[in-house]
Amino acid sequence: MTVSEVKVVTGPLADPTGSTRDDCAVIALKHVTREYAGHGGVVRALGDATFSIVAGEWVAITGPSGSGKSTLVNLIGCLDRPTAGELKIDNVDTASMSATELDRFRADKIGFIFQQFHLIPYLSALENVMLAQYFHSMTDEAEARAALVRVGLGDRVSHVPSELSGGEQQRVCIARALINNPPILLADEPTGNLDAANQKIVAELLQDLHRNGHTIVMVTHDPEMAGLAQRRIALSHGQVFCHPVSGPMVTLRRSTDRL
Ligand SMILES: Nc1ncnc2c1ncn2[C@@H]1O[C@H](COP(=O)(O)OP(=O)(O)O)[C@@H](O)[C@H]1O
Ligand SMILES: [Mg+2]
Repeated sequence: MTVSEVKVVTGPLADPTGSTRDDCAVIALKHVTREYAGHGGVVRALGDATFSIVAGEWVAITGPSGSGKSTLVNLIGCLDRPTAGELKIDNVDTASMSATELDRFRADKIGFIFQQFHLIPYLSALENVMLAQYFHSMTDEAEARAALVRVGLGDRVSHVPSELSGGEQQRVCIARALINNPPILLADEPTGNLDAANQKIVAELLQDLHRNGHTIVMVTHDPEMAGLAQRRIALSHGQVFCHPVSGPMVTLRRSTDRL
């Protein structure tokens, strides 16, 4: 995969063509709130969040347990909808879509990487990756195999999860997330269950995917992993309290190559 265009914007509004950070946004939240109705009343899990993430950016989401990280990731991943406010993914307002349209949109735009891997124990690595395609599109063994090669597991396609190390299972999960070549990768504690050696492998893989233009939104408690991101969005009690835009803003346009 090659990066076909690199555009550097020196500040949030400083582009000679007149485009703004919002114009480049692949994820844009305006006054997004998510409340849950519970037995003890209404819980405001995310309150009035306004920020954007530009194409090709790598953002770490941090905050203590219960601060709203999963709520935010579920909203960005189109698994949930805001109670109030506007959420645009790739300039499309997700509120305007039917559930079926949203499923299709999610499959095209977003790859999910989970802490717990969520692999089916009795299926091989190849079948687990092909299962992702079952939900989105026609099952394509060649694409699933290519995705496993892409994450360095070309020689592990027939192994079931119990025959793979934690790091290898996470790489199967990443291969699954790469099916359909989605522009956005959403990772929830991608190295939370890994030892140092496997964390390094997964970190290098994410760096490689970022270099190839994927936008990465990653929840992490690990300062080393957060340090790999270009920006940190910190949450506390459902409030976004830290999302500086620092340094030059680099937007990578991805090639149309698949994997
Ligand atoms: N489905 C739900 N129903 C009711 N309350 C919820 C639900 N999901 C999350 N919450 C509450 O919203 C707050 C934020 O939760 P969450 O986004 O899971 O935080 P984090 O991922 O940072 O641990 C917590 O107080 C949690 O109890
Ligand atoms: Mg969580």
